[in-house]
Amino acid sequence: MLKSISSIEDSKYFGKTILIRVDFNVSLSNGSIGEDYRIRMSLPTIEYLSKRGAKVILASHLGRPRGWQSGYSLELVAQRLSSIIRTAKVGFVNNCIGNEVRERIDRMGNGDILLLENLRFHKEEEANDEEFSRQLASLASIYVNDAFSTSHRKHASTYGAAKLFDTRLAGFNLDREVEYLTMMKENPIKPLKILVGGVKIKDKIGALENLLPKAEKLLLGGAVAYTFLKAKGIKTGISPIDEEHMPWVTKALTTYGDKILLPTDHIVAASPNEGYASIAKEIPDDFAGFDIGNETVQRYSMEVGGDGSGTVFWNGPMGQFEIALFSNGTINMAKSVALAFWRGSKTLIGGGDTLEAMKRSGVSEGEVSHVSTGGGATLRFLAGDEMPGLDSIDRS
Ligand code: ADP
Ligand code: 3PG
Ligand code: MG
Repeated sequence: MLKSISSIEDSKYFGKTILIRVDFNVSLSNGSIGEDYRIRMSLPTIEYLSKRGAKVILASHLGRPRGWQSGYSLELVAQRLSSIIRTAKVGFVNNCIGNEVRERIDRMGNGDILLLENLRFHKEEEANDEEFSRQLASLASIYVNDAFSTSHRKHASTYGAAKLFDTRLAGFNLDREVEYLTMMKENPIKPLKILVGGVKIKDKIGALENLLPKAEKLLLGGAVAYTFLKAKGIKTGISPIDEEHMPWVTKALTTYGDKILLPTDHIVAASPNEGYASIAKEIPDDFAGFDIGNETVQRYSMEVGGDGSGTVFWNGPMGQFEIALFSNGTINMAKSVALAFWRGSKTLIGGGDTLEAMKRSGVSEGEVSHVSTGGGATLRFLAGDEMPGLDSIDRS
């Protein structure tokens, strides 16, 4: 088991400088923060340590900047944090290493919080560079990882620097993610139903390989479904097909064909911008599928909504939901997942776009047993892949 911050006596935190790796990689548009779920999920850990008199240093990345790009600054996140956290002072410093950072830390009082600038402004972060790791680690005496969603990355802040601390603990968000996803991976309450959409089959293969043997049903939608349909010899028009992973798809259909449900009708259009769509059983030559059709929605809703038993795991929208014309399938699946929860099933949602889609469907976080903060990390964890950000934490 990961060693949690709650396993240490309160007095050990008093006056100590603690570096928390958080994941504040949130969506920014027109200078404002979009979905802030990741920020909110980090609050219990931040406040727990601040209230115990620690000097709390927060380190995160934001996006994938190339060098120093002001559009990727974390300053807005610091402003958001200081408007939510009323019990402590929240500061921001425009670097994550160096003299200025050190001076700011020296001036911190017990309980104060300081957010460092985007780690990825230094290319050494992603390179897991030794010297950069040493500089980060020199800022504090205790390390906490609360960034589950970045724990699949072997970067300086998740691995190299973490390894240099004597005390390396898991924050509450990390703990909670690992607990739920371990249940999901190893011992899901049966029957397990998996709803998968989105685009990239490659990202989902590992998780599917692990979960398929335990699942009763895999319901496929989104762009990933077309490669499965094509492998079965069904016409998919100009829908995106992942030729590279066709062999895996064919094998999955052979091994688990009786568990795999595919769309039987589709919302099709010549292109997403043309604004014209119709329902088709088979996709005509010059058309692509952009959403699952009504008959599929009905069939899938019955499966997902269920009878209150078992577990439902959902990753990936059923269509290009960002366009209203293609959002019906996703909206209805989000509602069906909520219905499953209200009936008593365990429900888990993972993926940045899936969370966004769920919110747009009018389903709240409280209507899901567990909304993972992770996208790639959640799928990698479920696949049983290496998680450097977890490997670097002490065990209890
Ligand atoms: P998540 O971030 O939740 O893991 P993905 O990144 O796998 O989800 O997929 C999300 C994207 O898939 C969305 O941007 C959505 O528009 C797109 N998508 C889903 N179905 C289709 C489709 N039929 N055609 C084009 N894009 C699709
Ligand atoms: C995510 O959004 O999945 C994490 O913050 C990791 O970001 P990355 O894919 O840019 O490493
Ligand atoms: Mg995505």
